Amino acid sequence: MHVRITPSILNADFNNLDSEIAKVAADSDLIHLDIMDNIFVPNFTFDFGSASKIISNCPIPVDAHLMVAEVDRIGIEYAETGASSVTFHIEASENPEKLITEIKKRGVRAGVAVKPNTPFNEIIDLVNLVDMVLIMTVEPGFGGQSFMGDQMAKVAQVRAALNSTQRDVWLQVDGGISAETIEIATKAGADTFVAGSAVYKSEDPAEMVRKLRFLAENQLNNL
Ligand code: DX5
Ligand code: ZN
Repeated sequence: MHVRITPSILNADFNNLDSEIAKVAADSDLIHLDIMDNIFVPNFTFDFGSASKIISNCPIPVDAHLMVAEVDRIGIEYAETGASSVTFHIEASENPEKLITEIKKRGVRAGVAVKPNTPFNEIIDLVNLVDMVLIMTVEPGFGGQSFMGDQMAKVAQVRAALNSTQRDVWLQVDGGISAETIEIATKAGADTFVAGSAVYKSEDPAEMVRKLRFLAENQLNNL
């Protein structure tokens, strides 16, 4: 397993995104971009035009996390922006198999996300199709919330299912990931970590990314 740190810019300074991204680019695997439409979640971040610009200007690959309604259509549009990975919520999709196929057809990694109250059962059949599973460890919508440790059973269920496939599927957690919680999520089976406020509220964001990676890799070696 390989540890990936994907900082979320949700809590960064939106007026200076280039320099905010530059702070962590050298130490991060991908930049996690949260797209919220104020329909699927009660918050709004970027419209398609602004998100596309961020994606094309980003010096490292972008992991687009779509928290939007009508994702069967919008997900395909995002797969054409140059994003490296497009993740949609199972709760927002009417035809997840088709959406995964359409995203992958464009040479983009396809991810499926589940909210805390959505059981693993809802995505069990998709594990063999996707490139990433995202287990939310907060209710999607806002940064800075507390990590939900009760989601670790679901992370472990996904890891067990992935262990029986030979495919390279990433297992991401998002919400409340920090130096205090990353080892818990690693132990449960996650290998890809979104961290928003832990990174951008720290004095030295790059150092925090390195610290998170060190903690996760260390925990992984001890498993
Ligand atoms: C929440 C977003 C997260 C958020 C995480 O809906 O999907 O990516 O930025 O922020 P923290 O790390 O502060 O919980
Ligand atoms: Zn996110």
